[in-house]
Amino acid sequence: MDLSVIVPTFNEGGNVAELVRRIGAALHDVDFEVVFVDDSTDDTPATIQAVAAATDFPVRLIHRDEPEGGLSGAVLDGFRNAQARWCLVMDGDLQHPPEDIPRMLDRAALGDVDIVVASRYVAGGTAGGLAGATRTAVSRTSTLLTKAMFPRKLHGCTDPMTGFFLVDRDTVDLDDLRPRGFKILLEILARRQMRIGEIPFAFATRFAGESKATFSQGMRFLTQLAMLRFGRMSAFALVGGVGAIANLVIMWGLIHLGMNYLTAAIIASEVTIIGNFLLLEYLVFADMRSESGQMWVRFLKSFAFNNVEAVVRIPIIPLLVQGAHIPSVLAAAITLAAAFVVRFVYHALWVYA
Ligand code: GDD
Ligand code: MN
Repeated sequence: MDLSVIVPTFNEGGNVAELVRRIGAALHDVDFEVVFVDDSTDDTPATIQAVAAATDFPVRLIHRDEPEGGLSGAVLDGFRNAQARWCLVMDGDLQHPPEDIPRMLDRAALGDVDIVVASRYVAGGTAGGLAGATRTAVSRTSTLLTKAMFPRKLHGCTDPMTGFFLVDRDTVDLDDLRPRGFKILLEILARRQMRIGEIPFAFATRFAGESKATFSQGMRFLTQLAMLRFGRMSAFALVGGVGAIANLVIMWGLIHLGMNYLTAAIIASEVTIIGNFLLLEYLVFADMRSESGQMWVRFLKSFAFNNVEAVVRIPIIPLLVQGAHIPSVLAAAITLAAAFVVRFVYHALWVYA
């Protein structure tokens, strides 16, 4: 068998027949099966069985009575049960057009990749099916953050949050995956360095039924990120914390030597910015230095960013205090937290590119 199409489903009865029809119409000269990994609480399993009986290619149902790991766990069970080595994962609501599968197979057939990712964010792709500006903004922001946290492993992948991909199952260590939440692709890509190929695709709107995405899925995603990549970002936070303390100590010392407090604050900040840069060089991004060009270029980028950041951030505090009636210390903390995330993304993606 050439291909196993793995479809996780949770109460998708209205989509099954149309999905199977379109998969069958899209795949010619391919020996394939469709594997539904279903955690439904409604009559979706019966619908899948009825559709399976009426098709001339194998359609299998794995119904899980104890749905472990949600969507990600379902995909993992699909990998374990697949007949073929190459597995195509897609949603069951037709947001992932089956007509794109042949292009993914063609890309894999070039023989130089372990995984082909169908991306909304590469030239030619669109995320039109994302309902609303908020969802779009959340998707783009989390993609940027994720890429910053795994700059090397996700190199060449513009859409680590997509649920539409074709993977050589033998290149994935299934026992190593810790499925949680909705983002199984991220789990696969973050665990080991894969050779990634991409094709653009247009993310469609849902055919029938409702999305199962929730706020708690979002929280689960953030946990997944933190667990996968606790290392670099926590080290980055530590360096920032040490820098903040050093900044204050230097300022205090200079004032005691008789210096004016504003001059002392400026000197202390600049010394800290330089010190922080050295810590980033030799601790946090040490493994990326050899591939990130020249050190003085990185220094200029980092130095310019930190100075601009201070000039931009501080005037935002009175805006928050007066506009949103937030206490000044809380307002300062909010700007610092936001600045921390922006600074991390900037350094991971543009300074240590
Ligand atoms: N077996 C199983 N168990 N399937 C599930 C579960 C679960 O607990 N939760 C959701 N699914 C299935 C749905 O039935 C659907 O086929 C697919 O997973 C995607 O779920 P949607 O409800 O359509 O969520 P979405 O459209 O918000 O999120 C999807 O879109 C993202 C792109 O924005 C996810 O599939 C992501 O993987 C995808 O990248
Ligand atoms: Mn969907």
